[in-house]
Formats: sequence, C-alpha cells, structure tokens
Amino acid sequence: MALAVVKPISVPTGKHNKRPMVSIDAVTMAFGSYVAVQDVNLTVADGEFLAIVGPTGCGKSTVLNAIAGLLRPASGTVTIDGASVKGVQNDIGYLFQQDALLPWKTSIENVELGLLFKGVPSAERRERSMNWLSKVGLKGFEHRYPHQLSGGQRKRVQMAQALIAGPKVILMDEPFSALDIHTRHLMQNELLRLWQEERRAVVMITHDLEEAIALGDRVAILAAGPRSRVIESFPVELERPRDVAEIKLDPRFMDLYRNIWASLRGEVEKSYERRD
Ligand SMILES: Nc1ncnc2c1ncn2[C@@H]1O[C@H](COP(=O)(O)OP(=O)(O)O)[C@@H](O)[C@H]1O
Ligand SMILES: [Mg+2]
Repeated sequence: MALAVVKPISVPTGKHNKRPMVSIDAVTMAFGSYVAVQDVNLTVADGEFLAIVGPTGCGKSTVLNAIAGLLRPASGTVTIDGASVKGVQNDIGYLFQQDALLPWKTSIENVELGLLFKGVPSAERRERSMNWLSKVGLKGFEHRYPHQLSGGQRKRVQMAQALIAGPKVILMDEPFSALDIHTRHLMQNELLRLWQEERRAVVMITHDLEEAIALGDRVAILAAGPRSRVIESFPVELERPRDVAEIKLDPRFMDLYRNIWASLRGEVEKSYERRD
C-alpha cells in the first residue's frame, strides 16, 4: 500500500451549510465542584452524522445527556431544531451500549413502546412495529423475549425501538462496543443503511476512532477532562454508501486516521497520567 501524503484538513467546529438541528452553545457541565466539560460548542446540521471521540471519562456521555435533556448545563444552552432543551426530549431516539430492552416484553412489545408513549392507536402500533422489525431483519422474531435473542439481534430490536417514532435527532452512546467485531461491523452497516434511507441528525459517542471515521460525516475530539472541551473537528469526506469493513482499507481513511489520532493521542495519554 502506498503511503499517502498527510495533509492538514482540520476545520473549525460548527461550519455547516445545512440547517442546524442540534446546537450546543458554550455549554459547561458540572457535578458539584467537578467541572466535567467547559465551554463546549458544537453544531450538528439536519441529516449530519457527527461522531465524538475522546478518552474515557472526558465527558462524552455527559454531553450526550445534556442534548437528551437528562442533565442540565451549569451554563450555556442546548437547542434542538431551534427550541431550547429544558427537560427530557421527545424527539430523540437513544441507542445505548447496554441492553435497554425490557426483559419481560417481546421484541414487538419493546419496539412498540416508543409509539405507545406517543399515544398511537394499538392496531397502527402493531403494524408499524412489524414493519420495523422486518426492516432490521427480524421478521419471525416478533414474539421472542430478549433472552431468546443473540446480542446482535437485541441490538437490532434496540435500533427499531430508537428509530420507529421518526426522531429528529438520534443519540448513540458507544452502541456497539459490547459486540464482537464481526457483529459490530454488521450492526454498523445496518445502522448506516437505515440512516441512509431517512437521514436524521446523529450524534454518536465512541472511543473507537475507526468507528467514528467509518460512520461519521465529521469527527470531533474532546480533550481529556476535567474541563474538557472540543479541541478539533475533522470532516470525513468519504462517499456513501460506505461499507465499514471495506472503507478501513481506503488510503484516505488511513490518512484521516493518522491525522485525527495525532490529535487524540495526546488527550488519551493525559487522561492516563491523571489516573491514580
Ligand atoms: N453523576 C455524576 N456525578 C459525579 N461525577 C460524574 C457523574 N457522571 C459523570 N461524572 C464524572 O464526569 C466525568 C465525565 O463522565 P462521562 O461523561 O461519563 O465520561 P465518558 O462518557 O467520556 O467516559 C467523569 O470524570 C465522571 O467520573
Ligand atoms: Mg460514556
């Protein structure tokens, strides 16, 4: 493989042509006297896939929870589609690392939940949930309980659950990190396929830089905490549709990886040094 020339391609954060869907403006998040993140500014355009990377404990989940309205900023504002976030948001699909399925409910009952809370009548709920389960490749598994499904299948149910209500924003917190590498690739491709059909604004948190580049339109780096902030943001100009396993072999992918890692590496090292 030829070594390509590494070009500096970083750009300031928040530069978009499209309508902003999520705006994080000068957000500081604190737990008591511990300031986890300080003065974070990020904008995600409608239909844009933003990946955020940073060392463990730097405040990635905290930022995501601020967008979801689960945590309140100490200062600064978060807006979604122009409206300021004041409490738990309805227009959000959330995909977690851990299994968030209710163990006593079947796949279809789990998928239906999002619509139930929105007051969608039962027949319509059933039909839409059936459709979503077949969309994620689980036709025939509607009446299985979570423990009767594989890790990948449970992840598929979670995706259907997160997407069925047509959220304006999809938030993902290391959604695939508990899966083995092959299942992870499958699920990443599956996610891209679903997202490609109906593009939403996505904010995905990951500590996996390869995942961030393979999936994202842009990768933002958070500094080591405390007082973490966005240190740099890199556009990923690799065409879609992408195959996550294939794209890693593309020389442009490797260039990007090298560039972003050059910036991320120092933060990861700092975060290790600060640990006892
Ligand atoms: N509820 C909490 N109370 C106190 N400290 C917290 C709380 N949640 C997170 N933190 C601290 O804030 C920092 C950022 O946490 P988090 O956002 O979970 O990091 P990441 O997701 O990047 O691993 C960590 O140092 C963590 O210990
Ligand atoms: Mg986290």
